[in-house]
Amino acid sequence: MTRTVLVTGGTSGIGRAVAERFAADQAEVFITGRTPGTVEQTAKELGVHGVVCDAADPGRAEACAARLGTLDVLVNAAGGLPQATGGGDEPPLDALLAQWHANLSQNLLTAVLTTASVQDKLTGGSCVISIGSIGAERRGGSYGAAKAALAAWNASLSAELAPRGVTCNVISAGYISGTNFFHGGLSDERRRTLVEETHNKRAGTVDDIAQTAHFLASPGARHLTGQTIHVNGGAFTTR
Ligand SMILES: NC(=O)c1ccc[n+]([C@@H]2O[C@H](COP(=O)([O-])OP(=O)(O)OC[C@H]3O[C@@H](n4cnc5c(N)ncnc54)[C@H](OP(=O)(O)O)[C@@H]3O)[C@@H](O)[C@H]2O)c1
Repeated sequence: MTRTVLVTGGTSGIGRAVAERFAADQAEVFITGRTPGTVEQTAKELGVHGVVCDAADPGRAEACAARLGTLDVLVNAAGGLPQATGGGDEPPLDALLAQWHANLSQNLLTAVLTTASVQDKLTGGSCVISIGSIGAERRGGSYGAAKAALAAWNASLSAELAPRGVTCNVISAGYISGTNFFHGGLSDERRRTLVEETHNKRAGTVDDIAQTAHFLASPGARHLTGQTIHVNGGAFTTR
């Protein structure tokens, strides 16, 4: 049976690799992003459906959901480090508030709103996968706090949806190369430090995350729900 898969933030990095992995199964895949040209181009390259949608906008999220029938797999990959928008002359507390709002919006509310918009389309056997971050465990600031909240929300979502047969998990990613996450601003020294923190001495790849998502959506993972799965080469261990 052909599965329907929605990947928010599917135009780049992790989301794109996840979409590609499910498209390889001949699933009917929908990707979203906020930038029309990138959505159109990526959808064409991957042979999937592209929907321009800011996942933090309730109206847009609802309009995107209206395009779907039943949904087998939702991957909330939209997120990242919001780029500063103020001119730098606003009062410090206003700038701080804007930074926190932007991070909570991009890394938490995107997943909350998208999931709520498609909730009645999930069926027994469906799964919700949200991309979290090692930043939730340490050094996270407003970004890490948003990703920690994502994991807390996932636990309650699982309690609500698992009785209907829907699994809900977070993949908490360590440093992953091949994305636009750092907006080109990752220094060689910082990169070396991030790799050095791992046990296997390598950066994560988008495929590491895509394969984990594919497993979470497989029949072998049906008893796995409410969890945060850490994919980071040992840079953070749970014990
Ligand atoms: N790369 C890493 O090292 C790393 C580590 C831990 C966790 N993560 C997480 O992995 C996820 C994917 O990021 P990435 O590393 O693959 O970065 P990326 O290459 O910058 O991809 C981010 C994607 O999300 C989209 N996006 C951002 N905000 C959105 C919104 N409000 N609505 C819809 N789409 C939105 C972007 O497109 P537009 O900007 O055009 O909308 C883009 O498609 C994020 O949640 C990030 O926090 C990344």
